[in-house]
Amino acid sequence: MSQWVRLCSIREAPEEGKAMQVTTANGVDVCLARLDGELRALDNWCPHRRGPLGEGWVEGGAIVCPWHAWAFDLKTGVAHPPERASVEALALKTEGDDLLVDLA
Ligand code: FES
Repeated sequence: MSQWVRLCSIREAPEEGKAMQVTTANGVDVCLARLDGELRALDNWCPHRRGPLGEGWVEGGAIVCPWHAWAFDLKTGVAHPPERASVEALALKTEGDDLLVDLA
């Protein structure tokens, strides 16, 4: 079942090739990035040592963790080899000027 929560306004979303950390009204941290014109959302916390992925950078279709540079595919959340890990990829939708994320 879906649980859509407002993330931010469309105007606040990152530019192409950038990422940011956004906290929902109910306190969930999300890594929001724009890649190839599409907004993508992942769980913000790196499974390695809980680095903040939203403070990382976009490279090669992935978000790179700012702490030890593990990279997670922005579409799937799966880590690039050799790491074996993943973060949850979250669905997004727009509603008027708002960007909503599915936290279900
Ligand atoms: S905490 Fe993200 S790579 Fe170590």
